[in-house]
Amino acid sequence: MPELTINGKKHAFKPGQTILQAALDQGVEVPHYCYHPGLSVVANCRICLGEVWAPNPRTGKLEAFPKLVPTCQQAASEGMVVYTDSPKAVANQKSVMEFLLINHPVDCPVCDQAGECHLQDYSYQYGRGQSRFTEAKNKQPKKDVGPNILLYSDRCIMCTRCVRFTREVTGTNELMVDGRGATEQIDIFPGMALNNELAGNVVDLCPVGALLDKDFLFQQRVWFLKKTPSIDGITASGDNISVEHNDGRVYRIKPRVNEAVNKWWITDEVRYGWKFVHSESRITMPAIKGKPAFDALKPMEAWREATAAVESAMKALTASKKNLALLVSPMLSCEDAYHLARYALKVDPEAMLAIGPVPFLGEDKTFPGGFTIRAEKAPNARGVRRVLEALAGGKPVANAQGFESALASGKFAAAIVTGNYPSDWVTPSLLKALSGLTTVVAIDTLANAITAMASVVLPGAVWIEKSGSFENANSRLQAFEKAIDPIEHAKSEAQIALDLLGARIGKPAADYCPATTRSEMSKVTGLDSMSNALHAPEHSETVESDMQMVEL
Ligand code: SF4
Ligand code: FES
Repeated sequence: MPELTINGKKHAFKPGQTILQAALDQGVEVPHYCYHPGLSVVANCRICLGEVWAPNPRTGKLEAFPKLVPTCQQAASEGMVVYTDSPKAVANQKSVMEFLLINHPVDCPVCDQAGECHLQDYSYQYGRGQSRFTEAKNKQPKKDVGPNILLYSDRCIMCTRCVRFTREVTGTNELMVDGRGATEQIDIFPGMALNNELAGNVVDLCPVGALLDKDFLFQQRVWFLKKTPSIDGITASGDNISVEHNDGRVYRIKPRVNEAVNKWWITDEVRYGWKFVHSESRITMPAIKGKPAFDALKPMEAWREATAAVESAMKALTASKKNLALLVSPMLSCEDAYHLARYALKVDPEAMLAIGPVPFLGEDKTFPGGFTIRAEKAPNARGVRRVLEALAGGKPVANAQGFESALASGKFAAAIVTGNYPSDWVTPSLLKALSGLTTVVAIDTLANAITAMASVVLPGAVWIEKSGSFENANSRLQAFEKAIDPIEHAKSEAQIALDLLGARIGKPAADYCPATTRSEMSKVTGLDSMSNALHAPEHSETVESDMQMVEL
């Protein structure tokens, strides 16, 4: 691999990389605003400038570039020597910072970006200690640029990342640079709104607090948020996300970079589609039909009675010589599917295993930048099917329609039905098919017509509240981690299945562990890929705060 020297140290780089890319790859910090790996290079912010020497191809002697060079634009070459910490480069960084702050309102105490703002960080690392500017600052307007986005023009540093995003990634061109010089502003074209399906990404792209998410505005100071790596749990895209939460409440979802899946972006559907997690209609406590509601202060007793009620219904099913049907939702993880199917087969080795309805909305849509929105609105149809097929031992796994028609055959007396969809999913035909059964056990997250008629209702956990794995539309199996605890007395479907199994075999229920489940799945079902091909999130190091604790 070719090598260059940055700030006195030799580093390898990949041919075609710029100096900045080579530096960032090697963990060398070089300040940058306008550069973003997912966008074209414009080199307009000028903070990344460095002193550069390169060997003259004829003489082989090192020769200095006559001026400071934008490292984000200059290709790295063999033997190059770069300084971003020389007096000349540092003087430029200070000047750029001073220039950017001339008209900046420095309203960090009321800015959502404070704590994750490049302007704030670089001001501390590369800026001057105090301002020499005594004149009145330019005042620019606050603009409502789209259904989810505000633009506080005062804070903008004109890096044009947002404009390039709408040109290069979405191809929708809603944003532009209006005016020149000190009056230059970002704006939307007249009559347009920043409302494309990926619009929310401009908020993440903006290195300062100029573009703001209306949904997150003034909700939390970012340093209170904990970030848990997760996977899109509402569509089949498998987009890598970070769930940001505090005190058991989710505040926002951001993209997690994965060049093999979603690159740097997520859709607004995924960004804002998690609200049902804290819905008023969440089921929070088990319930048994015809019995008074359980005392909210005695959840252990409620779960014991509810699992006992399921167990006695399953005993009655065995005595009736009829069969059990299990409908596993494509919203559930592979691990949930595995434990539920294992339980169903323990109750009735002839049980019918079926996969729940897989919602579709329109067709897949690919943007000019290559990002694809999936029409399939369930995260794990492939994973659930794969697990059920492996456990069914060669018998076909029914789809939702097949499940309904099989129930009409009169062979079945009981069904376990799982939902976990973000909105109402129950069809009249499914309801009708279930109404003919003696026992319906509903494991779901939101109240609906099935939970209203079920013999026993058990509250499940949404994906943010549990760990597991999903297989996306490209058959990529990815693990996600639990971000917050399940709401009130809800449990993951895998844990519910283990509880029911405990009641069946008369032993205390095992605790659900995703890693153990995956290795068990590999052994029992021969699904080696369940543990071998799993893509787990990389854990980044915890960054220590550089703020000093002051004893008062
Ligand atoms: S609004 Fe943000 S992303 Fe857009 S040009 Fe200004 S600083 Fe850059
Ligand atoms: S990052 Fe190089 S000029 Fe902006």
